[in-house]
Amino acid sequence: MVAKNLDEIIKEQLNYTLKETEFSNLGEFYQGKVRDNYTKKDKRIIIATDRLSAFDRVITTIPFKGQLLNQVSSFWFEKTKEIVKNHIIDIPDPNVSVVHQCKTVPVEVVIRGYLTGSMWRDYDKGKPTSGIMPPNGMKKNQKFDEIIVTPSTKAESGHDIYLPREEILKRGLVDKDVYEQIEEAAFKLFKFGQEFCEKNGLILVDTKYEFGVKEGELMVIDEIHTQDSSRFCIIDT
Ligand SMILES: Nc1ncnc2c1ncn2[C@@H]1O[C@H](COP(=O)(O)OP(=O)(O)O)[C@@H](O)[C@H]1O
Ligand SMILES: [Mg+2]
Repeated sequence: MVAKNLDEIIKEQLNYTLKETEFSNLGEFYQGKVRDNYTKKDKRIIIATDRLSAFDRVITTIPFKGQLLNQVSSFWFEKTKEIVKNHIIDIPDPNVSVVHQCKTVPVEVVIRGYLTGSMWRDYDKGKPTSGIMPPNGMKKNQKFDEIIVTPSTKAESGHDIYLPREEILKRGLVDKDVYEQIEEAAFKLFKFGQEFCEKNGLILVDTKYEFGVKEGELMVIDEIHTQDSSRFCIIDT
């Protein structure tokens, strides 16, 4: 048998990507941009499809993207479960996670080690992000002296909006003590992620965490340190 290279394997699968699912008996359906969600009682089944979304639009599907997403996320949830509790109950399939259905905290904790992405674009226009304006004269992709958090609202639909911490508290989106807990959790997870990546030749540039509450217990939900929620760079290049 002739060994196939990765490009060939991916090309062969271009017509067999998982675009969407339709299960009538799995629970209440919510189609996210990337994942199909089925909720029944206190459990949620999250099926990672091969959909690719960028700037809030689904653009295409890519072979194996869904399983990569779910398995990368599962990897990090397993590695960090002693640091912060998370929503995972079971991973019954490469594309599927069964999780605790939570009441979502309506704030996304975006955490950054470098000036890039939308924060760079805002900075370039002289605009702060979440009320934070980096010092004058910084270059694109430059490392911050200290890791920063730029929280955003978790919009029901459409674009999330960056808000200063004070504004999030003033609007009562979360209680102060919950906000402090999720920020602290984000710092711990991000530091762990950055150190783990560095040992493996990667930079974890920035990422986004979501949190939820079940029976009074706070946990990380959604996905962590995936290609969809994070930027990674290869240190050598
Ligand atoms: N444990 C959980 N409890 C409740 N909601 C969750 C949980 N984990 C993830 N979610 C939500 O499920 C959805 C996952 O699908 P996704 O494709 O990311 O959707 P979206 O387009 O809304 O980001 C997200 O809206 C996320 O907030
Ligand atoms: Mg999402």
